[in-house]
Amino acid sequence: MKALQETARVIRNERITERLWWCSYESPGIAATARAGQFAHALCGDPGSYDPMLRRPLSFTRVEPEPGRIAFLIDVVGRGTDWLVRQEPGTEIDLLGPLGTWFEWQPGAERALFVGGGIGLAPLLVMADDAAANGVESTILCGARDTAGVTPADWIPESATYVTATDDGSQGHAGVITDLVSDWWDWSQQVFACGPTPMLEAMSRLSARFGLERGQRPVFASLEARMGCAVGVCYSCVVRTTQGVKRVCRDGPVFRQDSLSWEWTHD
Ligand SMILES: Cc1cc2nc3c(=O)[nH]c(=O)nc-3n(C[C@H](O)[C@H](O)[C@H](O)COP(=O)(O)OP(=O)(O)OC[C@H]3O[C@@H](n4cnc5c(N)ncnc54)[C@H](O)[C@@H]3O)c2cc1C
Ligand code: FES
Repeated sequence: MKALQETARVIRNERITERLWWCSYESPGIAATARAGQFAHALCGDPGSYDPMLRRPLSFTRVEPEPGRIAFLIDVVGRGTDWLVRQEPGTEIDLLGPLGTWFEWQPGAERALFVGGGIGLAPLLVMADDAAANGVESTILCGARDTAGVTPADWIPESATYVTATDDGSQGHAGVITDLVSDWWDWSQQVFACGPTPMLEAMSRLSARFGLERGQRPVFASLEARMGCAVGVCYSCVVRTTQGVKRVCRDGPVFRQDSLSWEWTHD
């Protein structure tokens, strides 16, 4: 699947919590082929300014091939994300995408568990939309530091069971989201996870343990990494796997969780 450089047009940027924004774009070329788990690399500055110079990676959180729309769920953490959410409807944004690998259904899976940490929920929602459209039952676990990082339930597919956790106890379970995986492991047939590295590493340990004690599940994890080029050239995003060194932008961001060694997190 070839990536395009496309001029997308802002449809709407909606603030959905103190920190999170839902940003929708007309981007027919990218929407035609983008899949759950893939991302776009966005230029985040006024035309011709090249400041900031590097594009910013953003996962698709909704993909509508007809009428040619995509959306990003954006956590405003710095200059690039702040610039993006401030753009008015009609503004043109330079996107490169779709990039990277994607989540895939295992044949016959009828119940999917999604585990998202903070903005890691973004790519899982495309897969949850797909589940809703194909009669696959979904449970979505969403954890964040506080309420401002939790995607409100209105933005979650209606058919999904939605369970939240916050570190400060301001919404849902008080604690980390991986505390809740045990409750849903036996119910699930396939697991998808995305979030910060410590959360994914904890998921890896839990999946290995529950897999042995309670039955294996295919677990796919989408990694976060600092990116330069996002097209596999600069090697700024590498991680170690059981198949050697891999680039998160090109060989990922979606990996089978049992292929990740996590050694790079302790270097
Ligand atoms: C494959 C992929 C998909 C992503 N999808 C989304 C998404 O859907 N929505 C979203 O809001 N964000 C997503 N991110 C993270 C997003 O790319 C960064 O938050 C963004 O690049 C920060 O740019 P900035 O200019 O706003 O902040 P900067 O000024 O560059 O940085 C602000 C702070 O964010 C931290 N930061 C910057 N880049 C990253 C990164 N890649 N990972 C972790 N921390 C970072 C910096 O250390 C710093 O503390 C994704 C990242 C990757 C690799
Ligand atoms: S960001 Fe350049 S190789 Fe991945």
